[in-house]
Amino acid sequence: MSEFVTVGTTDELQPGENFVVEIGSQWVAVFNVDGQFYAIRDVCTHDDGPLADGTLFGCEIECPRHGARFDVRTGEVTAPPALLPVPTYKVRIEGDEIQVEVK
Ligand code: FES
Repeated sequence: MSEFVTVGTTDELQPGENFVVEIGSQWVAVFNVDGQFYAIRDVCTHDDGPLADGTLFGCEIECPRHGARFDVRTGEVTAPPALLPVPTYKVRIEGDEIQVEVK
């Protein structure tokens, strides 16, 4: 059975913004893309860049180190030099709470 933890409230995260939380031993970046919330591991698969410090273009986050892009909805790479996807986390909204699945 999956478990979710509350990481913040919807009013703390406006469209186009993100924040980073620690879940277990992982840093997780939570994004608001046009009112939909997504969570991915905050570590670029190219060379460990902090993805949350990058720039969001629609659904794509651009790594601040070398410019790889990932779709925050799926974790898939959309631009090199990264080759491997980043892990994603399920997100649910309970009332005004943003909750992320613990893995
Ligand atoms: S560390 Fe992210 S593109 Fe190189």
